[in-house]
Amino acid sequence: MPSRLAVLASGRGSNLQAIIDHFDNLARERVARVMLVASNRADSPALIRAATASIDIAHFDSGDDGSELLALLHKFRIDLVVLAGYLKRIPSKVIREYAGRILNIHPALLPAFGGEGMYGERVHEAVLAAGVAETGVTVHLVDDEYDRGPIVAQWRIPVAKSDTAESLAARVLNVEHVVYPRAVEMVAILQQLESKSSA
Ligand code: GRF
Repeated sequence: MPSRLAVLASGRGSNLQAIIDHFDNLARERVARVMLVASNRADSPALIRAATASIDIAHFDSGDDGSELLALLHKFRIDLVVLAGYLKRIPSKVIREYAGRILNIHPALLPAFGGEGMYGERVHEAVLAAGVAETGVTVHLVDDEYDRGPIVAQWRIPVAKSDTAESLAARVLNVEHVVYPRAVEMVAILQQLESKSSA
């Protein structure tokens, strides 16, 4: 049985699209399937992408103690939660129940250039201001602290002298679209192996 994914997204949803396309392309071989796209923003373009792909969508209140989100995850029998441009903190109640089963992607090489308030252009501006030779993407498990959970996958990307925050953001995003769906797939396969061996 494919793992049942929920993607939480508040923004444009390009990573969501890459994940939907990846698992669609795997067709019969697929190990996971996006069953729900949920957002704290009812006007998130990600919700339109999901509806276009005939995936169930939901809006939830990110200001509560996590009960509303948890109820959605239960309703859709979600195995794995994928954050894709979701900026709010995940409440402890949800983290406790889904420990090791919530993934996030960050557009830099964590632990560098991460933490509260480090998102979007700010990350790439900080990378350029620091004058580092490399940036990259990081997929990690989510725990109580922003951008601090165990790292699952990283990919390094050279920073060119001529880079602007905009050019860097575009290159990093293209790499995210390759790395994130495959990291989600890897985690889903490993979870399935684990649950088979403990059955
Ligand atoms: C990505 O850069 C991701 O690393 C970060 O938020 C952005 C989301 O972009 N967490 P999109 O909404 O998937 O296009």
